[in-house]
Amino acid sequence: MKEITQLISEEELLSEDLTYLRDGLRQELTEMSGSRLLITGGAGFLGYYFVKTALDWNRSNADREPISVTVFDNFIRGVPDWLAGHTGDPNLDVQKQDMIQPLPADMPGFQYIVHAAGIASPIYYRKYPIECIDANINGLRNLLEYALQQRERSEPVRAFLFFSSSEIYGDPDPEAIPTPEDYRGNVSCTGPRACYDESKRFGETLCVNFAQQHDLPVKIARPFNNYGPGLKITDRRVLPDFARNVLNGEDIVMFSDGSPTRTFCYSADALTGYYKVLVRGHQGESYNIGIEHPEISMKSLAELVIDKARLLFGYEGKLVTAASEDEAYLVDNPNRRCPVIEKARSHTGYDPQIECEEGVARSLVWYYHNQDAAEA
Ligand SMILES: NC(=O)c1ccc[n+]([C@@H]2O[C@H](COP(=O)([O-])OP(=O)(O)OC[C@H]3O[C@@H](n4cnc5c(N)ncnc54)[C@H](O)[C@@H]3O)[C@@H](O)[C@H]2O)c1
Repeated sequence: MKEITQLISEEELLSEDLTYLRDGLRQELTEMSGSRLLITGGAGFLGYYFVKTALDWNRSNADREPISVTVFDNFIRGVPDWLAGHTGDPNLDVQKQDMIQPLPADMPGFQYIVHAAGIASPIYYRKYPIECIDANINGLRNLLEYALQQRERSEPVRAFLFFSSSEIYGDPDPEAIPTPEDYRGNVSCTGPRACYDESKRFGETLCVNFAQQHDLPVKIARPFNNYGPGLKITDRRVLPDFARNVLNGEDIVMFSDGSPTRTFCYSADALTGYYKVLVRGHQGESYNIGIEHPEISMKSLAELVIDKARLLFGYEGKLVTAASEDEAYLVDNPNRRCPVIEKARSHTGYDPQIECEEGVARSLVWYYHNQDAAEA
């Protein structure tokens, strides 16, 4: 992918990302041709490139049967402009559906199901912990039951993907970093993050048992700190917060001492991983999806944002620290987060290429063009 050294248009940015996704997913998307794909939570961050990738593949492969995409979302944070912009596409059906409620009686036969509905941002899941648990457990259970019924109706689901999280590892022991899938985790079951971490863990248990007991093709992805186009500037995760500071012409405010480290995986890379796990992942297996390096501190991330913002927009701000108004902001916040991704590499061919330097520049360009987003 071309290195970004100056501000480019949103169209150019998206076209490069979608070409990257199309190239990386040639076989998987071809295999999905002519099928129906359901994405719950499809109005969210990961839904952004999930939906756009399938619609882009349809446009680029007009001689093949299209992938027909259905989005279920409760739109609790509004209908994003990008999704509204696709209405009218004959291969996209957008429906308001709260996944905590029973599924519609007239669900068509879906061959691929992705359960991404859920409350992913710590600020928001601490505000709505029960809703967070319900989406991860009850919503998932309803979809798994639907998949069972589809087999009885001789319309079997070909693949089912549950979005778990790297948070299921909690705050790993230092010797379990980088973290492989068989690490069992170090998680509080009652702390302020438990509604999220524990419901993802039990969600995985549900998936594994439906896969084993009912022979359903259920696979699980564990995202590690994804960022990039589609992640709203108001989301309150770290990179959008820094981008908001930059675009408001303010100093960048860091709510920790800057020492926690993460590896950050750009969304175009992560989405190749999710599609690959959906199509190629092994039944009943979990896959880390992220990037192995560089593992950088929040302070280094902030400095990288400042460098790139200087280059792209002539930004003149600096890094400052402050205490968050939210007292639980750092409670149970893992100190290090870094995945082993060998399993996804060997089972599915996942091979992320976009390092933080490039991904941060691409994200800042996207935020420049997407500064208006509804607050939750
Ligand atoms: N982005 C990451 O780095 C990351 C990391 C770990 C796990 N995940 C998981 O991946 C999934 C998608 O994450 P995201 O970053 O796109 O989150 P997001 O918050 O951007 O999107 C989630 C979407 O789900 C919808 N939603 C929430 N509750 C719902 C409900 N009850 N019924 C229907 N829709 C509902 C929201 O309206 C939103 O559009 C989530 O399950 C999240 O926990 C993401």
